[in-house]
Amino acid sequence: MHIYNTDHLKPNLRHNGVTMNKKNKLIITSALPYSEAVPHIGNFIGSILPADVFYKYTKMAGYDSIFICGSDQHGTPIEIKALKEGVTAEELADSVHEKIKGVCNRFGCSFTYYGKTNSESNKKSVYEIFGALKRNGYIKKVESVMPYCNIDKRFLTDRYIEGKCPFCGFEGARGDQCDNCGRLLTPEQLIDPYCGLCHNRDITFKKTANLALELDKLQGEIKEFVKERMSSWSRNAANKTISYLEQGLEAREITRDMKWGFEVPEKGFEDKVFYVWFDAVIGYIGITREWSDRWEEYWKTPDTKLIQFMGKDNIEFHTMMWPGILIGSNLGYVLPHTIYAYEYLTAKGLKFSKSRGVGLNMENALEIADADYWRFALMWLAPESSDNDFTIALFVDIVNKIMNGKIGNYVHRMLTLYGNSGMKPSELGTDAKLEDKIEKLEKEYIDDFEDLKLREALRCVVELADLGNETISNEKPWEFIAGGKIKEGSEEKAKALFGSLVRIVHDIGILLWPFAPKASKEVIEIFGAGEIGLKRLGEHSNKINVEALKPVFSKLGEAQLKMLERFEEA
Ligand code: 2FM
Ligand code: ZN
Repeated sequence: MHIYNTDHLKPNLRHNGVTMNKKNKLIITSALPYSEAVPHIGNFIGSILPADVFYKYTKMAGYDSIFICGSDQHGTPIEIKALKEGVTAEELADSVHEKIKGVCNRFGCSFTYYGKTNSESNKKSVYEIFGALKRNGYIKKVESVMPYCNIDKRFLTDRYIEGKCPFCGFEGARGDQCDNCGRLLTPEQLIDPYCGLCHNRDITFKKTANLALELDKLQGEIKEFVKERMSSWSRNAANKTISYLEQGLEAREITRDMKWGFEVPEKGFEDKVFYVWFDAVIGYIGITREWSDRWEEYWKTPDTKLIQFMGKDNIEFHTMMWPGILIGSNLGYVLPHTIYAYEYLTAKGLKFSKSRGVGLNMENALEIADADYWRFALMWLAPESSDNDFTIALFVDIVNKIMNGKIGNYVHRMLTLYGNSGMKPSELGTDAKLEDKIEKLEKEYIDDFEDLKLREALRCVVELADLGNETISNEKPWEFIAGGKIKEGSEEKAKALFGSLVRIVHDIGILLWPFAPKASKEVIEIFGAGEIGLKRLGEHSNKINVEALKPVFSKLGEAQLKMLERFEEA
């Protein structure tokens, strides 16, 4: 499922004057993190990081791509957290937004724009799309009965009403599910319900009307869309969607009885707001709109490819609700091309989430090790086809044995050997056999990226280092050197061997960029190159500044290990 035909990058990756002008545009998105708290590293690998890694690849390959993300600012949890902290929901959402934006920056993310859903541009987009959905006949009024707390004077969504479970008798079951027996519940089923906020039992079940999107009417078109696009989705996204569609789609409410959110511009519904999911998915458009006047060039060009990364809990909203909104509004927006849902990165022995005190969130992680280490290790473990468990031991192994032991070691060893050889860059040649192997791995790297197998692409970089390390052990390049120069009589062989081995260092520098941008830049700078692009693969013999060499990666030290242990579950 290549996003594009990449023949133009083959068979010779070098010096072939890649033509990129004919390519379509790409919009790459990551699910928008809630601006309730700084994401933990399991959330980061579930969406923002792979989107960023992929975006960086598209830039290296010369695509006309943009990377859009931002904070998801509405919703009940943020409103309630703000209430508890004695600030307004907007203050809380904006201050956490700044934190997330800052920490993503420090993690080396290169968003084209990191915006937020509570913005004027998003409000405009939400109102336009809502207006179009209404005009086109896809909005209806639905009535439901909702628990209302007479003390707090507010409707309680399913999560904020609690009581005794009718099945197992557990006290403290929520209105959507019992955490003890796992059964799904409705608020009316709870015995002796109480308010999850003030814990009083002064609850009335009241009738309320909301607006719903008639997904049932859009079902035929959604099915067509799914059938056509599914082959370029992750398997979990395709499977889950098929099973939802088999059950049939029903109208879904898009407004809520609460205060925090965009008010609903509809008579009789002025005291309600849009449901967080409605303005969150539209946020992809609203955020692009805030970024630039050119937003429509991306969103309304039919052959733009919209590539969306997310965690598996976000599938149904992206494969059915969101396309339903876009199709129903009929405003000419592109539909998602690729929907890539990650499984969970769990951390059984670790305090990953903040539910119990300190958790290993993105900010804590950076206090322990630089961004490159986390980016590389998390991508190495990326839960692409099943849940994966993160442990400190694995992290230590990836850093010490792979990053430092294979890549860092190769770069250092090879450039030191080259420095001792006294050869000028212009003297470097090529070893045909070795070049073949290098180009095969580089082609694989590109193919993996085009297939969205990001983990596999990272493995190709490590295989390049393996190829270099093995060649050094077998060919013993140091035997060609005496007294700071190449021994007489072996010049030809040495030039070829050193040439290809140095190429490996240079190319590793380029290919590392999506995964470990800082280390990548350091390696590339040794070769005097500025811009990083796949076109540059193999262009290593202009300048080599061996004096600038410093370790690209190092092992984790005692202090870092101590800090990591703080997050281990007692
Ligand atoms: O699950 C979440 O974290 C949501 N905030 C994701 C929203 S993705 C998109 F719809 F904005
Ligand atoms: Zn209450």
